[in-house]
Amino acid sequence: MIIRSWLFVPGDSERKLEKGRGNAADALILDLEDSVSDDRQEIAREMVRDYLKANPERGRQQLWVRINPLDTKLSLPDLAAVMPGAPDGIVLPKVYSAADVNTLDNYLDALETREGLELGSTKILCVATETAASLLTFHTYLEGVSDRLVAMTWGGEDLAAALGASDNRNPTTGEYDDPYLMAKSLCLTTSRAIEAQPVGVVYVDFRDLEGLETDCLRDRRAGFIGKIAIHPAQSEVINRAFTPSEDEVAHARRIVEVFEQSPGVGVASLDGKMLDMPHLKQARNVLAMAAQIEAMQ
Ligand code: COA
Ligand code: MG
Repeated sequence: MIIRSWLFVPGDSERKLEKGRGNAADALILDLEDSVSDDRQEIAREMVRDYLKANPERGRQQLWVRINPLDTKLSLPDLAAVMPGAPDGIVLPKVYSAADVNTLDNYLDALETREGLELGSTKILCVATETAASLLTFHTYLEGVSDRLVAMTWGGEDLAAALGASDNRNPTTGEYDDPYLMAKSLCLTTSRAIEAQPVGVVYVDFRDLEGLETDCLRDRRAGFIGKIAIHPAQSEVINRAFTPSEDEVAHARRIVEVFEQSPGVGVASLDGKMLDMPHLKQARNVLAMAAQIEAMQ
């Protein structure tokens, strides 16, 4: 299954939890971190666990949980509380390096055993760029990281705080400043290098759906698959943007056919344009993605 839209839902909001289940998002991220205040932590854990237990049939919408960072005292109680609900995955914020993902992997081994869950069944998405150190440790993912790590995303807000910045965008163009573009690029290249899904960053202006669509298409062109959402209206826009259109699928089919008609040939032409192996690979990716999305319906 490809997860195109990942909708954050504050873990202590009954109303939003209820709304989330009917939403188009391919996955909900039930949040125990930044959207929950300290005095609501305990209640949020209970609500998230109850919600997971009440929804054991995940069907087309997976249920993930964002826990607190591993260097806080909150993370282990978060995990211990929610694992009885068998979440599809855990979102790990504010990582320093792959070592954090591997520590979480060990915790999950223990908790899956306690709950009688299949070992390794709980996946991990890490938010890979929220600390200053994290930008300098991307190589650690290539040196050995848990198989549970199936997706990686980046963030520019916590990183700005970590870098002592008062803003993370160029005031004239509104584009991200250099460190955030570096974070984005490192997230994309590292995800691809370890065959994890690179997930696009949240588009914070949640009333601007046109801007969201443009941003999604830009992410998709760059190689990202899917995007984090913070508002229910964003999910459908994200799903559409990351679903290959009929035209794209038709064009990809034609490319594959051209090569199939001349087996063993490394270069061909279509509509006056040269095609070689990267084009064929790209066309196959489009068809594989379309087929996977079709199978989810
Ligand atoms: N998940 C589920 N439902 C949500 C939701 C979300 N993330 N955000 C809003 N809704 C619901 C609202 O409760 C409202 O439903 P209601 O009319 O039945 O009460 C409806 O969708 C429309 O919401 P709207 O009034 O447009 O937004 P808002 O002003 O109430 O909320 C936010 C705006 C940003 C506070 C809210 O979208 C939110 O909490 N987002 C998630 C924030 C988060 O998790 N951040 C951490 C990750 S960065
Ligand atoms: Mg945050």
